[in-house]
Amino acid sequence: MYDTVYFNGAYQSRDRVSVSPDDRGFLFGDGAYEVIVAYGGRCFRKSDHLKRLNHSLRGLRFSGFDAFTLDSVIDELLLRNSVSSEDVTTYIQVTRGAAPRKHAFPDDPRPTVFAQVNPVVRDPAFKTGISAITVPDTRWSRCDIKSINLIPNCLANELAQQQGCIEAIFVRDGVVLEGTLSSFFAVFDGVACTAPLSNYILAGVTRQVVLEICAREGIPYSEMPIYLNDLHDAQEMFITGTTREVAPVIHMDGRPVGSGRPGPFVRRLAELYRLEAETATMNARAP
Ligand code: PDD
Repeated sequence: MYDTVYFNGAYQSRDRVSVSPDDRGFLFGDGAYEVIVAYGGRCFRKSDHLKRLNHSLRGLRFSGFDAFTLDSVIDELLLRNSVSSEDVTTYIQVTRGAAPRKHAFPDDPRPTVFAQVNPVVRDPAFKTGISAITVPDTRWSRCDIKSINLIPNCLANELAQQQGCIEAIFVRDGVVLEGTLSSFFAVFDGVACTAPLSNYILAGVTRQVVLEICAREGIPYSEMPIYLNDLHDAQEMFITGTTREVAPVIHMDGRPVGSGRPGPFVRRLAELYRLEAETATMNARAP
């Protein structure tokens, strides 16, 4: 659908892209990625995503590549794909590039840089409420890096789908952390709680927007550990993410959450998030 992609400095048709079989992304999963949403052709929180891409690349010890060089590339890609009124995401991936296979870094790495535009697919359940399961966190201990190594996430997400659920929430040492592609919140005694930032979760951009909204609107929130043993006491649960926005979790591990319907907290936050995204992107559109 969006046929023009960006590959190593050139805008070209998707089928003309050829990635070397020696690419370290292909051989080792040696790379990082970002997903940025654009509402009506305007990116939302682009610089937060590029900042996080730089954080990921630094964590992977990439040197000499600044994610902000992609700032204008993303806009150009949206233009070249004639994105106007529709909502899309831009997927960006940077790998350490092609080199003969050896684990230690090549002497002169030349990153492979790829970006593409994808349609936003909104499952109606993101609004009406999703079912989720909790799973043991089998990932590494640098989950703050948005690495392209996503096997534990894929395995956990597949398990969720097999059980008729949409998301799996990782639990490490009894602490509930985040989803396979989303941040996680639970409401206890009228306070929206989410795991504090650490090496065990991704610093979600949507999570941050939601916390900013809570602070601005006087909605009680807390960044604190959520224990699996306490989860059944939660009045509401929801996930946040670039592609999920703010989505209620109405069933967890086969049991209804609260009333089994989206609660007032998540409905309000979902609405405020939409408003925030619309206002920010409308302002960006103004001449
Ligand atoms: N995933 N946690 C994990 C493990 C994620 O992969 C994501 C996003 C998030 C939410 O982050 P943000 O609000 O910045 O999108 C949290 C993307 C969308 C993906 O892998 O497709």
